[in-house]
Amino acid sequence: MEYLRLRSGGKMPIVGYGTYLTTGLELEIALNKALEAGYRSIDTASGYGNERSIGKVLNEWISSGKVTRDELFVTTRLPIYGNRAKDVEKYIKESLKQFQLDYIDMYSIHTPFGVFQGDTTDYTKMQRDDSTDHLKIWKAMEDQVDKGLIRAIGLSNFNVRQIQKILDHCRIRPDNVQNEIHLYLQTPELIQFCQKNEITVTGYSSLGMKDGRKLLGFSWANEKLPEMLENDVVVEVAKKHRKTPAQVLLRFFVQNGVSVIPKSTNPQRLMENIRIFDFELDPGDVRALRSQDAGEGGRIVRFLFFPGITEHPEYPFPIQF
Ligand SMILES: NC(=O)c1ccc[n+]([C@@H]2O[C@H](COP(=O)([O-])OP(=O)(O)OC[C@H]3O[C@@H](n4cnc5c(N)ncnc54)[C@H](OP(=O)(O)O)[C@@H]3O)[C@@H](O)[C@H]2O)c1
Repeated sequence: MEYLRLRSGGKMPIVGYGTYLTTGLELEIALNKALEAGYRSIDTASGYGNERSIGKVLNEWISSGKVTRDELFVTTRLPIYGNRAKDVEKYIKESLKQFQLDYIDMYSIHTPFGVFQGDTTDYTKMQRDDSTDHLKIWKAMEDQVDKGLIRAIGLSNFNVRQIQKILDHCRIRPDNVQNEIHLYLQTPELIQFCQKNEITVTGYSSLGMKDGRKLLGFSWANEKLPEMLENDVVVEVAKKHRKTPAQVLLRFFVQNGVSVIPKSTNPQRLMENIRIFDFELDPGDVRALRSQDAGEGGRIVRFLFFPGITEHPEYPFPIQF
């Protein structure tokens, strides 16, 4: 495993285990396999509803002496319906209760916009909260770092302008930005901006969110893009290195210092996804893979299921396509 250094003092494994759209027994079995395969960084969000299952497995591993808490790196996020300064402490404590842990390694604002939960759990019925105030939320997160409940703080789905505003006003700097980053949405400017500012970058949906995309009815903004794992350039590069397309898609970013958090509940595939440290893409491969960037056309996660969300003053993406 390779690690990215955090300004707050810790280190984050460059490959983590994604857990979106999986919970309960399926997740518990898969997470055991992932820990056996060597994953030590686990990515979730309080909105995923699986912190309890994750915590159960992690605590079993800690209490049986197979890992120490220090060796684990747990990331979770403030829910989109809790994107208010006054709710930060409540949701951090709720996450800690679900995990049955004393602290969270990385706590991030899930999205730059907020919604009201009301009395529903259905995202498509949650109304926009246009009063989202990043600086107040950030200050509330800094206070929780002081209390020791969270070790490092980060941002997710923020654009460069929004990150810069936090940098201009913060006491504790963001240690991570987690955004959709993959073959079709490479965001080189955002990556360079973060790396210049010593903020680690994590890319999500590195494999194109395969089944999840279909399940949620998402598509690339440019619907003509082929399945990323079947992209001709990726398949060619994979053949050349005797690796799988998934390994090439992950290695492409890890080699550039970007962390990845592929999700798989399949023991063979989750193993494959962490075995990416024994080969290197050459400059020709990198050039060919770069040429596949589709910019905004490659975006999958646009949060359009929230009614009227593109009208929120902090909606981060220029997605007209
Ligand atoms: N911050 C945010 O707003 C945000 C948004 C989305 C995701 N995330 C995080 O990022 C993580 C990863 O993104 P994601 O879950 O959207 O999708 P992903 O990791 O790009 O893709 C997961 C899909 O790919 C399949 N897969 C995994 N490994 C494979 C392999 N080696 N070969 C072929 N297929 C493979 C999985 O199926 P099997 O399970 O059957 O292998 C699953 O269908 C999430 O789980 C979540 O933790 C964060």
